[in-house]
Formats: sequence, structure tokens, C-alpha cells
Amino acid sequence: MKKIRKAVLPVAGLGTRVLPATKCLPKEMLPVFDRPAIQYVVDEARAAGIEHFIFVTGRNKTAIEDYFDSAYELEKTLEYKNKIGVLDQLRDLLPDPGACSFVRQQLPKGLGHAVWCARDVVGDEPFAVLLPDMIMRDDVPCLAQMVEAYERVGGNVISVEEVPQEDVSKYGIVDPDGEQHGLIKMKGMVEKPAREDAPSNYMISGRYILQPEIFDLLENQTPGAGGEIQLTDSMLSLMGNSSFFAMPFKGKTYDTGSKLGYLEAFVALALAHSEHGDESRDLLKKMMKDL
Ligand code: G1P
Repeated sequence: MKKIRKAVLPVAGLGTRVLPATKCLPKEMLPVFDRPAIQYVVDEARAAGIEHFIFVTGRNKTAIEDYFDSAYELEKTLEYKNKIGVLDQLRDLLPDPGACSFVRQQLPKGLGHAVWCARDVVGDEPFAVLLPDMIMRDDVPCLAQMVEAYERVGGNVISVEEVPQEDVSKYGIVDPDGEQHGLIKMKGMVEKPAREDAPSNYMISGRYILQPEIFDLLENQTPGAGGEIQLTDSMLSLMGNSSFFAMPFKGKTYDTGSKLGYLEAFVALALAHSEHGDESRDLLKKMMKDL
């Protein structure tokens, strides 16, 4: 069984749900307490053993590329000012030289098209996809749990979470077929179904381990929901000849692509901060009293 070494992070989206904040700043770079949202997602991938990060970008996203590079003048200035703590932190967060690739999607044709754009860099091996809008938190991070599941069952593994019935049409929804190995077996999936057509309330929550055969299917995929090339539609085709399991994620997921999800993520990660968590809690309690 091939190890999962590479992760695709589709970051070309325009962030229209959080305008005007994203007018000239990529949504992935919005700070969630003391670091950009994308840092949490890259940290999750690293904790799962990912060695190479493939960012599928678009126009106005160069800040992401600069963020995952060393900043020579800044580092020299911090050194000169003897701010060694923060300098070490910046260096720890940085992926190894050559561990990041950036490919351009060029056209906003949907998530499936974005993932397909990474095909040459991924090559012929299974890989992970992490949707950077979703910050997912648990004692063992979500992708690490999925890699552990993948090592048991092979094939393809996607994360799912239950959502209220009235929200099913916002997501990809899986059609479950009982349980095996502590995972949900699947017999289908559908992208953004009408409420009455949804086969369950398990939404596809933004973490995937996929076999490279998905790329040929994506290449020939016709547009689906919303007129976009949908990853879900190609996964459904792949299911015909490759096993698919859904892993119910039991931790907490924050959708930073929406204003309230972003607020929730910001507060939660301030509270969870190793250095500033207690102060943040005191501040929030004080603010709540004044409401
Ligand atoms: C994408 C996927 C969908 C998934 C969702 C999770 O949709 O296509 O299957 O449930 O992410 O956020 P999007 O949010 O890009 O419309």
C-alpha cells in the first residue's frame, strides 16, 4: 500500500461569502487569532505525515506563496532585535525547501477541476485533499485519523459529518450502506441534492484520501451541480471500481468561508491558544457580562 505523501489544497476560490474582507486578501490568509487560516490546515496535513503541499491557486493569491516562503529581511531584523522566540516560531511553521508547489487553476470551473489541475504534481500515487475553508480540530487531527483508517482499509476514504436536514442542499451528501471496520460503507453520493432527494444527512466535510485514477475521471467529467465540475461526481464514478469509505469525524469543524463560522473559529482558536488561551477566556467572559 502506497503511503499518503502529497496533499492538494484548492485555494483559488474568491471568498465571496466574506467580502469585503477578501476583496484584496485571499480568504485563506484571513487571521484566525494569530495566524492565517491556511496555517491550521497545513499543520493538520503535516501531522498526518504529508511531505508535499500542492496549492491550486488563482489570481490575487500570491500572498499564500509568500507566506510559505522565508522572509529574509524580516528574519534578519528579528535576529538583530534579538526576538528569537518569534523567529524560531516562524521557522518551525515553514515547510521544508521544495515541499510546496503552486499550480494555477486559470478558470473557476469548480472543485473537481481544481483538483485535476494538480494531476502532474501528484503523479501516480494516492493523495489527500484538504479544503482550506474548513478548520477541523480534534485531539488526533482529522487527516491523521483518515490516514490511520486508510492504512487499514485502503482505497478511498472521505470525512463526513452529520448536518441538520435543512442544510443538506449546501453540501455533498453520502448514501450510507452500513458499517465496516468502524467506518461507513458507501453506496453512492450526490452533490448538493434537493432536501427531499438527499440520501442521508452525512455531508462530505472537506478531507479526502483519493486514488490517482480520479484524475482520468475528472478530465472527462461533465459539469454537475451549479454548472461546475464536481469532485463528488467523479468520486461516484470511481466508486464503481475502487472501494470508498466515509469516516465520521467526531471533532469540531469551523467553516471560515462564512462570516459566523469565521467568528466561531477565531474565538475557539483564541481559547485554545497555548499562551493566550486563559487571557482570551477572561476577556470574553468580561465582554459577555457587558452584553
Ligand atoms: C465542496 C464540495 C462538497 C462539500 C463541501 C464542504 O462544496 O463540493 O461536496 O460538502 O465543499 O464544504 P463547496 O463548499 O465548494 O460548494
